[in-house]
Amino acid sequence: MSAVVIDGRAVAAEVRERVAHEVRELAAADHGRVPGLATVLVGDDPASEVYVANKRKGTEEVGMHSIHHGLGASATEPELVDLVADLNADDEVDGILVQLPLPEQIDQDAVIAAIDPAKDVDGLTVGSAGLLAQGRPGLVPCTPQGVMELLAHAGADPDGAEAVVVGRSILVGRPLASLLLNANATVTVCHSRTADLAAVCRRADILVAAVGSPRLVRADWVKPRAAVIDVGMNRTDDGLVGDVDFAAVSEVAGAITPVPGGVGPMTIAMLLQNTVRAARGRRA
Ligand code: GUN
Repeated sequence: MSAVVIDGRAVAAEVRERVAHEVRELAAADHGRVPGLATVLVGDDPASEVYVANKRKGTEEVGMHSIHHGLGASATEPELVDLVADLNADDEVDGILVQLPLPEQIDQDAVIAAIDPAKDVDGLTVGSAGLLAQGRPGLVPCTPQGVMELLAHAGADPDGAEAVVVGRSILVGRPLASLLLNANATVTVCHSRTADLAAVCRRADILVAAVGSPRLVRADWVKPRAAVIDVGMNRTDDGLVGDVDFAAVSEVAGAITPVPGGVGPMTIAMLLQNTVRAARGRRA
């Protein structure tokens, strides 16, 4: 293996330590009041249940207050929008996270639009997305922010680099493209209609895979010494695998994230960081 394996668990632990320190500072400045993160889960998808449980655990471990609402799979859009309105009005709540995906009877866009932009710790409202697209300060989606931290940790500077993002979701691909552009990378976003995906990926100094296709990115798609970040989390018969063929690509890349233990732990760490930022913003 030639690539340096980027340890997302270690970087996430550093972020959590920093966040825990900030939580203590905020509490000291405000009569012991700690930031609060509200999580909302609709239905009983097992993967989403695990993600939300980990987010709640992480929240409490850094000393913040976790408020959780679980709704049945048949919950209606007005019920969910009403709940979000209550959380917007609750002064103990600094951040609101509605776990996605939502059941099909609920319009995801309508629910996201109901979130107070000051509490949008997922960075998913059109206001947050617009600020990011314009390179202005705001709350940034957690997974893309985690990817940028890992690149910094690996010494992969986006400034002047060719960056290729495979995937164009609102949670990862699109905001990550904006972050890389704001950091002066030359950015290409690929998707299911990209004509020659392998050829485009081979141009990348920084290659990020976020499509949900097991081991899609192969060794001959990767430029020697590239930094390869794998956002994929695919449950297969072989267990949890990423969007990158780790064993083969790590022979070519300069740095690579594993799955698990790469981007995954960073998503929660950045959510905690966003919650502290939202709390600071609301108390300023
Ligand atoms: N589902 C998968 N990842 C995420 C995330 O980062 N935020 C939310 N709200 N839902 C998700």
